[in-house]
Amino acid sequence: MKIRFASTKAAHKIRLAKFSDFDRLLRLVAAYYRFDSIAFDERVTGRALRRLLSNKSFGRIWVIEWEGTLVGYMVLTFNYDLEYGGLEGLVTDLFVARRFRRKGLGALMMATARNFCRRRGISAIELQVTRHNRATQVFYRALGFKALDRIVMSLDIRPDFFALNAK
Ligand SMILES: CC(C)(COP(=O)(O)OP(=O)(O)OC[C@H]1O[C@@H](n2cnc3c(N)ncnc32)[C@H](O)[C@@H]1OP(=O)(O)O)[C@@H](O)C(=O)NCCC(=O)NCCS
Repeated sequence: MKIRFASTKAAHKIRLAKFSDFDRLLRLVAAYYRFDSIAFDERVTGRALRRLLSNKSFGRIWVIEWEGTLVGYMVLTFNYDLEYGGLEGLVTDLFVARRFRRKGLGALMMATARNFCRRRGISAIELQVTRHNRATQVFYRALGFKALDRIVMSLDIRPDFFALNAK
């Protein structure tokens, strides 16, 4: 499927996030977590965001600026998987504020991730999307992503988390 990038030309700018974006970025992360029903702890997520902004070996964050306002962001981190011959990119977060959707910005962000990975010899990009989020699945399929016949499993191994849930 061909995707249009119309009407975004003059107004938007996609750039790497800077430390000075922290407060605005954390608000966007909170909005995305709300959207995807992910528990948001400002202290925990804020600390992780700070570490990611200051350590490029973990990954990169891009933001979309629209006339000076941040209206979206994307987080790409790195994973090492023999299946993909080494490093793969993980898009852990992608969010465009509601008013700015369907203008081609999400596709531009994903093209940014793709170019970045290609330049570094990374051969695959992986991501997770919730089963009920059909619109976003359409979006990713339009970009060429395919669903794998696998189940995502995860285990929270924080000692305090285990203690809380074992009671
Ligand atoms: C998913 C998301 C990032 C897409 O961003 P966007 O800027 O709206 O997407 P684009 O405008 O680049 O869409 C490109 C193409 O994808 C498809 N698409 C995008 N959103 C769609 C929707 N809601 N329904 C159907 N198709 C859609 C269309 O083919 C679209 O092209 P078109 O507008 O010319 O028809 C955005 O909707 C969003 O932030 N959603 C909430 C958060 C979310 O789900 N994040 C992903 C978590 S895994």
